Amino acid sequence: MKTILTGDRPTGKLHLGHYVGSLRERVRLQNSGEYDKIFIMIADAQALTDHAGTPATVRENIFNVALDYLAVGLDPAKSTMFIQSQVSELFELTAYYMNLVTVSRLERNPTVKAEIAQKNFETSIPAGFLCYPVSQAADITAFDANVVPVGEDQAPMLEQTREIVRKMNELYGEVLIEPDIFLPQNQTCRRLPGIDGKAKMSKTLGNCIYLSDDSDTVAAKIKDMYTDPLHIKVTDPGHIEGNVVFTYLDAFCEDKATVAEMKAHYQRGGLGDVKVKKYLLDVLEEILTPIRRRRAEYENRPDEVMKMLEIGTRAARAKASEVLRRVKRAMKIDYFDNAH
Ligand code: TRP
Repeated sequence: MKTILTGDRPTGKLHLGHYVGSLRERVRLQNSGEYDKIFIMIADAQALTDHAGTPATVRENIFNVALDYLAVGLDPAKSTMFIQSQVSELFELTAYYMNLVTVSRLERNPTVKAEIAQKNFETSIPAGFLCYPVSQAADITAFDANVVPVGEDQAPMLEQTREIVRKMNELYGEVLIEPDIFLPQNQTCRRLPGIDGKAKMSKTLGNCIYLSDDSDTVAAKIKDMYTDPLHIKVTDPGHIEGNVVFTYLDAFCEDKATVAEMKAHYQRGGLGDVKVKKYLLDVLEEILTPIRRRRAEYENRPDEVMKMLEIGTRAARAKASEVLRRVKRAMKIDYFDNAH
């Protein structure tokens, strides 16, 4: 069996970083026909680990994320999309996994560490937040997933999951499947920088282009994009390292020969930012136009979108409860289960 599980926190609309890091790969894998099961989770419970005071934001973004999923081409006939909090089996698994992980191991997780610093949580980390990598291990293992397509920032979560799986299997017999991370081939896509040149596109940093941005917004954001501060006159030789416009062309443009030619010209001098930016806008518009069109189709049909999630959640729950039963049996805590 080849099974995929991946997901997103519903804390905002999805952006180009999500697109190249994971969404585009998911659609490709979905349409390859090589996978028996694909589960796509809207991780609202994980979002609540740092949004406990603003559940309405989380609720509202469940719909936004679902729209983004449908807009990029995830198809409910092929991919089961569901809402994490409604699959209570996940929280039972989390509780058992928690016994196999030390607090110091959680504190060493580089992604969690960076998030703690970013959110100024240093002196008061919510316990649920510190433990979210454990709940992510439950998300993955509850579906017997062996392939997890995510961006590079999620690599520590996968490492943590694999450790938990090995520990579980060592203690209770081969009960869980050890998953592999699936990263995009293209290095640039693994962690897309923001339009300001900062290491990561992120809602908190305010440096995103959203899949739902209209053409004018995208054009304005590209116009503001960080390029090469030393490239003052068009005739000056320019730098392409750290120049976000070229980084995005590497991530989004299929025509590698043209990009290589433009890079050489820019480095030589004589190619202005305005031209390169215009080209990037064309490339992005070609990708975003069909996405916006599909988003618009579903936007006015919220009931249908929620129904799709409800059906997906029911299917996800059936699978997770089967795995939970197996785990409890392996742990010998299946007291009233007469199935054997
Ligand atoms: N942590 C992921 C994010 O920040 C969301 C997520 C939750 C996830 N559970 C998962 C991703 C399981 C992959 C597998 O977007």
